[in-house]
Amino acid sequence: MSWPHKHLLDIESLPAEDLLTVLDTARAFKAVGERAIKKVPALRGKTVVNLFVEPSTRTRISFELAAQRLSADIVNFSAEASSFKKGESLKDTARNLEALNADVIVIRHAASGAPHFLSRIVQARIVNAGDGAHEHPTQALLDVFTIREKLGRIEGLNVTILGDILYSRVARSNIWALTKLGAHVTLCGPSTLVPREFERMGCRVTHRIDEALADADVINLLRIQHERQRQSMFPSLGEYTSLFGLTKARYAKTRPSALIMHPGPINRGVEIDSEVADGDRSVILEQVTNGIAVRMAVLYLVCGGKGPQEIPG
Ligand code: CP
Repeated sequence: MSWPHKHLLDIESLPAEDLLTVLDTARAFKAVGERAIKKVPALRGKTVVNLFVEPSTRTRISFELAAQRLSADIVNFSAEASSFKKGESLKDTARNLEALNADVIVIRHAASGAPHFLSRIVQARIVNAGDGAHEHPTQALLDVFTIREKLGRIEGLNVTILGDILYSRVARSNIWALTKLGAHVTLCGPSTLVPREFERMGCRVTHRIDEALADADVINLLRIQHERQRQSMFPSLGEYTSLFGLTKARYAKTRPSALIMHPGPINRGVEIDSEVADGDRSVILEQVTNGIAVRMAVLYLVCGGKGPQEIPG
């Protein structure tokens, strides 16, 4: 078992075998995180820069914790307090970070393809922390890690992704990861946000929510990505909730074992009822916790780590 990639740019280009290497490595790091001393020296001497040009709570903080637990030095770059404000380009910013000895640049950017662009112009390892509506690979990895941990497998499961699929990088990365690992993926939401074109990615598309929820083992809710929509895609939030929200009434009709997931941030009372979000089948906060182990695995593997066999048990 080994990891043959210098960067983590997307899920689309990775074979299932490499996804499983990340998941197994993350499992070993999660065990490390449950010890009294949670730090390992794996990345001692390496410098990781969190280059976040879009807002983030979960992803930025968990990359920071992941780097610290691997004993790397971590620098948080805030676009608001940087020379971006004076017109410095992404290319010049990245080259300057490299001149300051960044070994890994974790980038979140509003432009799809920004991480791929950086990977062509700098020597540092690049990790995509979300690029436009394109991909959010570590979110998908932590989502499949959580599903595998809770249900014991991915293959053969029915996973419904409900909400704004069109503008969601989380949806795209999840679709790639889940279908490569053998899950059956159903997409549901308003037809303006869930076009039939997604069937080409190997998913079932339905605009009937009862059909989408009936046989789901996992229900992953997505928020409406207002910041990326160029026009209103449905009449009102109230109508969205009544037609596509996971209300208490709809929740009561789901499988009693179905996991409830959400990448966050949640719009309580819009895509998900507040009590359902906090209910006993919700794994939303476990997803956040698992983000640390998954991001430790990603940082470790892009820096040349071979896999879980190298992590002391
Ligand atoms: N899920 C996710 O990407 O959350 P943040 O925007 O808070 O990082």
